[in-house]
Amino acid sequence: MKTLVTGVAGFIGFHTAIRLLDRGGEVVGIDSVNDYYSVSLKRARLEKLLARDGFSFHKLDLSDRNTYAKTETAIKGVTRTVHLAAQAGVRHSIDHPFDYVDSNLVAHLTILELCRHQPNFEHLVFASSSSVYGGNRKLPFSIEDRTDSPISLYAATKRANEHMSYSYAHLYGLPQTGLRFFTVYGPWGRPDMALYIFADSIINSRPIEVFNHGEMKRDFTFIDDIVTGVVAAHDNPPARADGPPYKIYNIGNNRSEPLMRLIGVLEGALGRKAEIVQRPMQMGDVKESFADIDAIQTDLGFEPTTSIDVGVPKFVEWFKSYNGYD
Ligand SMILES: NC(=O)c1ccc[n+]([C@@H]2O[C@H](COP(=O)([O-])OP(=O)(O)OC[C@H]3O[C@@H](n4cnc5c(N)ncnc54)[C@H](O)[C@@H]3O)[C@@H](O)[C@H]2O)c1
Repeated sequence: MKTLVTGVAGFIGFHTAIRLLDRGGEVVGIDSVNDYYSVSLKRARLEKLLARDGFSFHKLDLSDRNTYAKTETAIKGVTRTVHLAAQAGVRHSIDHPFDYVDSNLVAHLTILELCRHQPNFEHLVFASSSSVYGGNRKLPFSIEDRTDSPISLYAATKRANEHMSYSYAHLYGLPQTGLRFFTVYGPWGRPDMALYIFADSIINSRPIEVFNHGEMKRDFTFIDDIVTGVVAAHDNPPARADGPPYKIYNIGNNRSEPLMRLIGVLEGALGRKAEIVQRPMQMGDVKESFADIDAIQTDLGFEPTTSIDVGVPKFVEWFKSYNGYD
């Protein structure tokens, strides 16, 4: 089976591609390798992938309509797609709003068009986000909850992706599954995310900034659990039952952890104490996230198994070795 993985030089795309290759699949990877964060980290991930049989890579920007035909040629023979390319990050969307229109809205439409014209195409899995729940107070967040009050442009584009996909499932019968990811972390993780920033500061004896005075909770989900869910979704296209072949799932750890507990576990794994600077809440951020995963458990058998006590030390082990702190 030939699968297109977009955002393959990114954190989740890299791990997803490895899992698909490990079980003998063929993977066509696309990424623009943009400089939102360390390009050398993206290149290091790609180097690992390029060493594998069954992997091919195309450096393409999915928001560039001039390269649409080139992208179409690159994905010939693909029957499934895991679309993870996007401009991620809530905070970046405050200062760089147009990046989100290009990489989240235009690029998503490119993928919808490419997939619907692909002969024998079977299933498109795409990334959404827990941020679509905005400032909802009811916890845990359930896929039945309303999601019409995004509090960042990032969240608005992710919700728009779900609507765009639904319309293509309805119009063209394009089978799709949207996954609302909850704070993913682990080896090869993103340098713009809190865990990496904290580890980098603590190890270099710099203070860490803790927002909302530490009064935050997140459903931290380990990358291996996420990839298991992504691949389960990939393997199970939704059937056309009463409506279009379209499903949306939360994919999280189903545990909401206080930020200060995460910092404690990180300090333990690094063997160093953090110097903490308290800061007020940041624009666009939510105070708490907590995934109700009933639907993905029932339909896809998803069972996350990694607590932060196990996952954070695994992240630290990679962080130290990748950055030469051993
Ligand atoms: N990591 C998380 O905690 C998390 C949480 C919620 C949702 N998500 C979503 O999951 C997906 C993957 O996230 P990630 O953490 O791997 O992010 P990432 O930034 O590591 O990976 C995204 C990749 O997409 C590429 N890209 C961006 N714009 C592109 C374009 N126009 N054309 C081609 N490639 C482009 C980037 O170069 C990058 O390598 C994203 O859609 C993100 O919004 C992630």
